Amino acid sequence: MGTARRWLSAAGTMASVLALVAVPGAPAHAAGRCGDPAERPWCDTALSADQRAALLVPKLTDDERISLLASDDPLGGPLGGFIDSAHADTNNGIPRLGIPPLYMADGPAGVRQGQATAMPAPISLAAGFDTTAAQRYGATVGWEAKHRGNDLIFGPTVDVVRTPRNGRIFEGFGEDPYLSAMTGASWIRGAQAQGVMASVKHFAVYTQETDRLKLEMKVEPRTLREIYLPPFEGAVKDGKAATVMCGFGRLNGRWACQDGSMLNKVLRGEWGFKGFVPSDHTAAQDAVESANGGLDMELPIGFKYNAWMLKNAVSQKQVTQETIDGHVRNILRTMFAFGVFDRAEYPNDLGRIDRSASETAARQLEEGGITLLKNTGGALPLKAPKSIALIGKPANENPSGFGSAQVQPFASVTPKSGITARAGAGTKVTYNDGGNRGAAADAARSADVAIVFASDSQGEFFDKGCLTLACAGFFGTDGDALISEVAKANPNTIVVLETGAPVTAPWASQVKGIVEAWYPGQQGGNALARVLYGDVDPGGRLPVTFPASEGDAPAANNPAQYPGVNAAVTFSEGVMVGYRHYDSKGITPRFAFGHGLSYTTFGYSGLSVRPDSVQVTVTNTGSRTGTAVPQLYLGLPSPGASVPQPPRQLKGYAKVTLAPGQSTKVSFPLTQRSLAYWSEASDSWQVAKGCYRVMVGDSSRDIAQKGAFAQGGGAC
Ligand code: BGC
Repeated sequence: MGTARRWLSAAGTMASVLALVAVPGAPAHAAGRCGDPAERPWCDTALSADQRAALLVPKLTDDERISLLASDDPLGGPLGGFIDSAHADTNNGIPRLGIPPLYMADGPAGVRQGQATAMPAPISLAAGFDTTAAQRYGATVGWEAKHRGNDLIFGPTVDVVRTPRNGRIFEGFGEDPYLSAMTGASWIRGAQAQGVMASVKHFAVYTQETDRLKLEMKVEPRTLREIYLPPFEGAVKDGKAATVMCGFGRLNGRWACQDGSMLNKVLRGEWGFKGFVPSDHTAAQDAVESANGGLDMELPIGFKYNAWMLKNAVSQKQVTQETIDGHVRNILRTMFAFGVFDRAEYPNDLGRIDRSASETAARQLEEGGITLLKNTGGALPLKAPKSIALIGKPANENPSGFGSAQVQPFASVTPKSGITARAGAGTKVTYNDGGNRGAAADAARSADVAIVFASDSQGEFFDKGCLTLACAGFFGTDGDALISEVAKANPNTIVVLETGAPVTAPWASQVKGIVEAWYPGQQGGNALARVLYGDVDPGGRLPVTFPASEGDAPAANNPAQYPGVNAAVTFSEGVMVGYRHYDSKGITPRFAFGHGLSYTTFGYSGLSVRPDSVQVTVTNTGSRTGTAVPQLYLGLPSPGASVPQPPRQLKGYAKVTLAPGQSTKVSFPLTQRSLAYWSEASDSWQVAKGCYRVMVGDSSRDIAQKGAFAQGGGAC
């Protein structure tokens, strides 16, 4: 199926999900696995999901209710990808009552269990600054999850990056809450339109792998609300996420999967979440606390949510039957709402996956995320060089992060094969793995252009030991030293980074060009070749700041902040996370948040500023068609010394492709929430009186237009 047809089918699926809403007076009818509504009234598709769940719950025995509250698959979890070829987890359902099984799979970068299309890492999607792309990404992953026989996909990961050492940066959307929220909600809309449930993770705060299973995180309410919660709030309110996975560790003393202040009060009470909460694998700690704290389904198996513990808890009056039934209702209601009862099981059928449509999506999404960090003297795009030396092992691989966001690709186009094919017969392309620096330098010296590849090594279970390429670990090559050596040998050296997160890039001044391709997915080589040759403009902008040195990074100089003391971390930097940290401390990063070059240049003019909208005209001032990512930052007034405000915060962005000389007007809508801070005094969002500074430009440090407006009786 071509892309267009897939989008049509997505719309059709959405229509059928919406059709599950009750139509008064409609005749009872049924389809799928539920059964005859004459005998099983909850099978009547004319009723609402709520009504159907309310009819079904009383029919379940106590044991059946409890059995729905945990997966039945002991081989679940991240290792399930290797052991069980189909799913991460399975809840067997209850055939007696027509309750179908629920099949679940990882994950955020494509289906983890079994082969699938390896998408570019989610961090590269965030670099795209493009909600349409995020929806297409989610649609591709959701489509494949469905045709691998899954009802639910564990993704997206929206944990905001606190330390650049975090091992799971590649699978999330970077350091800014607004960008993460917009990207995550769009991903979810795309995935769920295919008829699968998404599971946004890991609620509520999860920022490091070190001590992850037992970590105590001390986070102030304002920091929670302004930095770590917005991506989840966006996922629930805008993305309509079906499920929210609670994470590991303890937030302010409460284990994430039994934290009623988050799961019951904020998620359900304030945000109106109506789906269900599965636990991360083994994250449930205590049956009573989890049941009362808001956990609906334990994964990977009922270590706590089993008949013995939960019946005992009810008979001891530690948990009410109504609480248990509430969890059952949440699960069933969501299954009804997604039509699980009313359709056949999704077959696990590779033949139904249109691999070429997925590959096109993977390639184009990667092109949209490849970030050109440096381009001296127009070194790129390549101008048909006679010879190119490719150096470094990642040139011959498509690196990826490891853990539950790793994907076994259907096929893989490496940079070496992609560039060789694009270069054509007139160009000699050589490859040297960089293992021997002298030989690598010789190879570089004898070519017109040297392209040196470097990767980091990151993934689930471990944080990175450092931010240089010297500790990239598994590749066994000191990438920083190799790059310097190659740069000495060839003045036309381009670096291609295939990292999942920021690196310090100490050699930045020695090379002509730097391209961050992230973990590029299975079409990485083709996407990269097209960008290097200028067939397409590099679409990416940094969703994470690249520090100039380790010590400049957030939370880098105080063990109590990171990695923690006695498995406890204090988020004492408050809201000064990511670029907010560098800006508030006046630290110049290597490459700023939002930075990324086009092959053309853009000018900004005609800024118009109102409290509910900012508009600006963007013009392509260069000689090639290219893609601009105008970014809107606001500097909020501080209501008092106890509420320090970051110098600027991202509040809007757009992505526009313009021909040479072409202009377009871009509008950034603002809401009261865009202007608000979280007041700990009133436990609510408040808009401070004062002057709101407006900044629009190509990055957080490249501001082209400035303005201001006053609010709350303040003045500018
Ligand atoms: C990860 C989750 C993942 C789960 C299942 C856990 O270790 O933290 O993100 O969904 O495994 O593979």
